[in-house]
Amino acid sequence: MSNDKLRKAKEKAAEAALEHIFTGQIIGLGSGSTVAIFVEKLGEKVGREQMKIRVIPSSYQALFLAYEYGLPVLQPSDVENVDVTIDGADEIDKNLFLLKGGGAALTREKIIAYKSEKYIVIADYTKLVRYLGEKHPIPIEVLPFGWKWTLKYLEKYGKPKIRVTNSGKVGPIITDNGNLIIDLYLYESIKDPRRLEREIKSIPGVVEVGIFTRKANVAYIGYEDIIRKIEPK
Ligand code: A5P
Repeated sequence: MSNDKLRKAKEKAAEAALEHIFTGQIIGLGSGSTVAIFVEKLGEKVGREQMKIRVIPSSYQALFLAYEYGLPVLQPSDVENVDVTIDGADEIDKNLFLLKGGGAALTREKIIAYKSEKYIVIADYTKLVRYLGEKHPIPIEVLPFGWKWTLKYLEKYGKPKIRVTNSGKVGPIITDNGNLIIDLYLYESIKDPRRLEREIKSIPGVVEVGIFTRKANVAYIGYEDIIRKIEPK
């Protein structure tokens, strides 16, 4: 698929999510290129319709986009609940379980997603998979303190690799929370995502894992010309 076609697919998904936006809402913003398109469209809609919304960004990327499009920003501690969160994904299975963290923003994304009344996922069709981990390793945010021990625990499940940058900085990726990202290349495919999410979370030094089993309420999967809406069974 060409970049142009992929961009159109992401635009379709981002547009579809706008129907969940109403004045007065507190909106969680995920991260990634599809969310970036959504924030642009959200900024336009808010201006056009004179809506009053506030956003909680999940990353510096999302925060800077919110500033760029003039969207008022809140901290999680300012509010009890989030009305709706719009988020991207790296993989989506048939149960609407997700794999996230390709942009290293998984921890804040999960905090916001799990607290949202409605969790809406927007993605191009390349993100649909038969099972989580089909196309990507499992991203895990890990504290720098004791990272080698954490890495050793993870060897029970697969080959852990510290994520390094390929541009803009040398050395390891440092997350928005000041931590490392380990990409875990599993020995075998995931049979029970809920269990693996729980098990990896219980390892000392693990801050968060990119397996999201808080089912999305709806996923909008964009293709070049059409949009597919998937709801949980
Ligand atoms: C960020 O850490 C990820 O969870 C993103 O949501 C994911 O990488 C989606 O990005 P794209 O919309 O660019 O595919």
